[in-house]
Amino acid sequence: MNLSHCHNFQDFRTLARKRLPGPIFHYIDGAADDEKSYRRNTEAYDAVDLVPNVLTGVEHVDMSTTIFGKKLDMPLYCAPTALQRLFHHDGERAVARAAEKYGTMFGVSSLGTVSVEEISGMIDTPTMFQFYFHKDRGLNDSILERAKAAKFDVMALTVDTITGGNRERDFRTGFTSPPRLTPKSLLSFATHPRWAINYFTHAKFELPHLQDHVSEGTDIATSIGSYFSNMLDQSMNWKDAETLCAKWGGHFALKGIMSVEDAKRAVDIGCTGIMVSNHGGRQLDGGRSPFDQLAEIVDAVGDKLDVICEGGIQRGTHVLKALSVGAKACSGGRLYLYALSAAGQPGVERALGLLREEIERDMKLMGCTSIDQLTRENLRYRS
Ligand code: LAC
Repeated sequence: MNLSHCHNFQDFRTLARKRLPGPIFHYIDGAADDEKSYRRNTEAYDAVDLVPNVLTGVEHVDMSTTIFGKKLDMPLYCAPTALQRLFHHDGERAVARAAEKYGTMFGVSSLGTVSVEEISGMIDTPTMFQFYFHKDRGLNDSILERAKAAKFDVMALTVDTITGGNRERDFRTGFTSPPRLTPKSLLSFATHPRWAINYFTHAKFELPHLQDHVSEGTDIATSIGSYFSNMLDQSMNWKDAETLCAKWGGHFALKGIMSVEDAKRAVDIGCTGIMVSNHGGRQLDGGRSPFDQLAEIVDAVGDKLDVICEGGIQRGTHVLKALSVGAKACSGGRLYLYALSAAGQPGVERALGLLREEIERDMKLMGCTSIDQLTRENLRYRS
């Protein structure tokens, strides 16, 4: 199997599984506890059916959307995710260039492996920086200033990682950042020689936004669960979020909002967007899925800030359903991470290209030529 055989999310996942050492694949693929929320994130889309209209003249489709004051050519973007150079030696460079090719937004994580300075010089399309609120205030100030100096368009504070999720696959495989060299991990590298050669012959693994302040994740191997539990500030509250929003002074979002009450508070503190998200099911298992929770959040705050539906998206129709409920855009991590792991930049380009084609085809089949024509009129919930 190679890239030309990948036609959908599951194909990229299958290829990524072949290419990556087990611990790394399972870090991406895994979620918390029994992984029920992770599965529900995608299954939720099946609770709703699309009802198409026909004979509307659909030869020209405009799927662009505007979020945070920036126009995206497609209503789906690459959510910020951690550790990308572990998955493919080009890491964020590959994802950023692919996102630029499709005119969509690219997010860089605090736990990213290519610096904001490098990314900002590389692409012209909108950029988001994902912020983890650390105990180390010097680190917090440094990343805020660096993202501002690099002219990132949006700051997104993650609010659903106040403690580490229970990621049992990572316990079983022993996955850490950086990867620990144990007999077991060396065996998994040896059986994936292509990955291992690339990893060991390219620039040393780094976390450029963190490593001058904390050693965990770079010099001290740690699981992501313990990183969250030990390095992030569990006292973080609404006042801190408000202060951060004011300090940033530009478009600011909370990533990981699930309740109507919190969505309203996000408006009150000055946010211009929220990501309705359960962190890909990686934190609170048993938590509701973003699509299930979307309608009530859109009804409460959809006219006051940009509501983004994040998680579980594997198909163009999933995007259409979320937009029909009232999301301004969708985002996801695994939808491009398997493709990155499988084939670097051409992989991510293929994944985004296929999703773009699906969205366009599905809009035509729905009788819609622009995304404002996607409304709840076109949806029916199964009882
Ligand atoms: C995760 C973080 C790092 O592993 O976003 O879910």
